[in-house]
Amino acid sequence: MKSVSNPKKLDEAWSLQYEMLAEQFAALVPPGDVPLVEIGCGSGQLTVPLARLIGGRGLVGVDRYAGPYVNSREKLMAAVARHGLEGSVRVILAYGLKWLSDQRDGQYEAVISSEFLPELSSYEVESFFSDCYRVLKPGGVTIHSFLSPKPRNPRQKLVIDADSDTRWTRFPPKEWFSPPPRLAAAQLRKAGFREPQTIALKSGLTVRAAAARALLLRWGVREGFWDFHRKKLTKGGLEIPDWIVMTGRKPARKAEAARRKSE
Ligand SMILES: C[S@@+](CC[C@H](N)C(=O)[O-])C[C@H]1O[C@@H](n2cnc3c(N)ncnc32)[C@H](O)[C@@H]1O
Repeated sequence: MKSVSNPKKLDEAWSLQYEMLAEQFAALVPPGDVPLVEIGCGSGQLTVPLARLIGGRGLVGVDRYAGPYVNSREKLMAAVARHGLEGSVRVILAYGLKWLSDQRDGQYEAVISSEFLPELSSYEVESFFSDCYRVLKPGGVTIHSFLSPKPRNPRQKLVIDADSDTRWTRFPPKEWFSPPPRLAAAQLRKAGFREPQTIALKSGLTVRAAAARALLLRWGVREGFWDFHRKKLTKGGLEIPDWIVMTGRKPARKAEAARRKSE
């Protein structure tokens, strides 16, 4: 378990989380040559390490960059330039669900997201998955990661409360901290995806003292949360919940034809 108390070490610890996730995504993406599509790419926490792993295949990131995320685009472009990824990462400024609904059927090999499902309502997740399915080629995959909504201990519960309780967060979620994995799996199935898989990755990261305070501020959590929980946050800190990675595969052409026939 890694513990960070110096705010200056926060970025490095956070990058390691996303490197772990990027490796998982890279292992799940089917071989091919069509760029991956990432909805809600933000400042590129996943985009950049994943683009480095998949090389020339490239990645199209779509984000609306509004509200608390208004400055994320510059951060992503700076990271892209820092890693010499200008030729492999393309960023589109758009409302993700609309952009996806405008895409042609069956043209992509993978549509992915990270910490994007928490931004949606259950109704939006349903229509998002349905468009993911439609725009994928047979055999294509959809992969979505988010922090588990189920805390395994009180330190993880503090993270969930800080980020979703309207008393504390400046940016309350529409419906949830993250979707329950069972519901997301049911929605993947409903959209047509076969055998959805749920993978849980331990984050192994605790953030204490000044680093916890810095992280909370970054997430738009009111100072009152720090004041209220100061003792706990200084001693035990916050523990990042497990990362949940959900994936579904669009059936190959024959199976897809049979599915349509049975509808
Ligand atoms: C919590 S951040 C996640 C950023 C990054 N993918 C990560 O893993 O840290 C959510 C991102 O989704 C974007 N977003 C939210 N709703 C969106 C929508 N309807 N269309 C496009 N982007 C959206 C936000 O602008 C933000 O960059």
